[in-house]
Amino acid sequence: MKKTNDQMLVIFGASGDLTARKLIPALFNLHLAKQLPENFAVLGVSRSNMSDTSFRDRVVFNSDYLKEKFKKHKETDIQAFAERLHYEDLGQSYDTDYGKLRKRIEDLKAKHDTSGNIIYYLSTPPTLYETIAQNLSEAGMNGQNNGWKRLVVEKPFGYSLETAKKLNKGLHQYFSEEQIYRIDHYLGKETVQNLLVTRFANSIFEPLWNRNYIEHVEITNAESVGVEKRGGYYDKSGALRDMFQNHLLQIVSLVVMEPPIGAEAEEIRNEKVKALKSLRVMTDEKELFENTIRAQYVGSVVNGEKVKGYREEDGVDPNSTTETFAAVKFYVDNWRWHGVPFYVRTAKRMPTKVTEVVIHFKEPHHQIFNEPGMHKKDNKLIIRIQPDEGILIKFGVKVPGQGFRVERANLDFYYSSLAETYVMEAYERLLLDAMQGDATLYARADEVEAAWEFVDPILNYWQNGKDVRMFGYSAGVWGPENSDSLFNGNGFWRNPSENLADDPGYCVIC
Ligand code: BG6
Repeated sequence: MKKTNDQMLVIFGASGDLTARKLIPALFNLHLAKQLPENFAVLGVSRSNMSDTSFRDRVVFNSDYLKEKFKKHKETDIQAFAERLHYEDLGQSYDTDYGKLRKRIEDLKAKHDTSGNIIYYLSTPPTLYETIAQNLSEAGMNGQNNGWKRLVVEKPFGYSLETAKKLNKGLHQYFSEEQIYRIDHYLGKETVQNLLVTRFANSIFEPLWNRNYIEHVEITNAESVGVEKRGGYYDKSGALRDMFQNHLLQIVSLVVMEPPIGAEAEEIRNEKVKALKSLRVMTDEKELFENTIRAQYVGSVVNGEKVKGYREEDGVDPNSTTETFAAVKFYVDNWRWHGVPFYVRTAKRMPTKVTEVVIHFKEPHHQIFNEPGMHKKDNKLIIRIQPDEGILIKFGVKVPGQGFRVERANLDFYYSSLAETYVMEAYERLLLDAMQGDATLYARADEVEAAWEFVDPILNYWQNGKDVRMFGYSAGVWGPENSDSLFNGNGFWRNPSENLADDPGYCVIC
């Protein structure tokens, strides 16, 4: 196990939802698992007027996100955890003199003996990232002479290629790239990391992982929820910015990348950047018209309950043209993937919550069992990111009896069968990595920019293009009626069920 040095975690935006929902529960788990250093303190910082006690009440004792966990743990453990948390009110604005904050950090450092190592976690609106970095720098709080200083930033990282570049440039004035950790919580998911292991720790997949054997690659990310309480944010973002530019292109990069020389952060990140740079950027309007689909959910009845359409959601413009469904077909311009189409879609208000990667293999080069419909029975490797996490291989077996009738059988592995292994939550894993200085699962500046290079022309086309269409789909179905048209008659989306091994065609709406 790697060593975690003594340190302090300073969370900006500590009164926000992410702190209570994700960060504090992740820290609580790390505390229980004795993964936090002995000398450790958390300082929540924001513009709300709170004391240490009221902060602890809010994010620990009265937290809806910890209630369930508390039932299983001792009062003393909870108390000991809460005592590690503190709060500092920044006043009216994040753009202020950080002298008082600096003093508070120094006092806590002395009290908890945390040394000079500090993580600044920015869980604020992105418009504040550069301001906070600048103020930290002006107060002399970014220097590494007396312990390291790291800056963790949440998504969204930029709104476009231009703004992402500007943000990178802005942050680099005050923190070096090695100090910056851009979080993408999908990289914290075990099953996403397992893509690397499946590909590079086995010899049976990699020889087939190329244009000679793969017909196409399909990635689905579906959520059954709508925009919930985030209409205001989402309406300015949309599915492509919210999920595709970051989480889904991260998954794409792991599927596409070449084998790295080793498992060190820079080796892996270099290959991921190369992969993202090899995505064929579509700039031609005709190409964009044929290879992208956007849509919005409209009101419907799901499971007997009336569900609002996107334009009726709180915080959403009633004439909004923001997409809640995005599907993109694209190619990867390199030796390995030449001519292999990738189909990637993400959407809200689908029939179920599921994320999976499906590798569709080509038919055998020479068919000897000339049964009708054989071509529909391709081999598939299905990597289930969530839920029912696991891997499924579909392969042909002989149906008992005369002749050679072939059926598809399943070979499956489920993470749940590893009951003994404790699976860390994404934020838990990512926080621990940042504490240990391991940036493997964090996005580098050039990686984020490469992802924007691909996404920017699609967004521009959707906003300004001539023949752009916005389709509708009823909440609770698999997107607009024409979503299979991306396949040009050579297939269709595998509409997955909640359970990995169930065949598509139906699903459980719950
Ligand atoms: C977030 C998006 O990054 O990921 C949300 O902003 C989305 O809109 C969420 O719901 C999905 O994450 P997960 O881990 O539940 O698949």
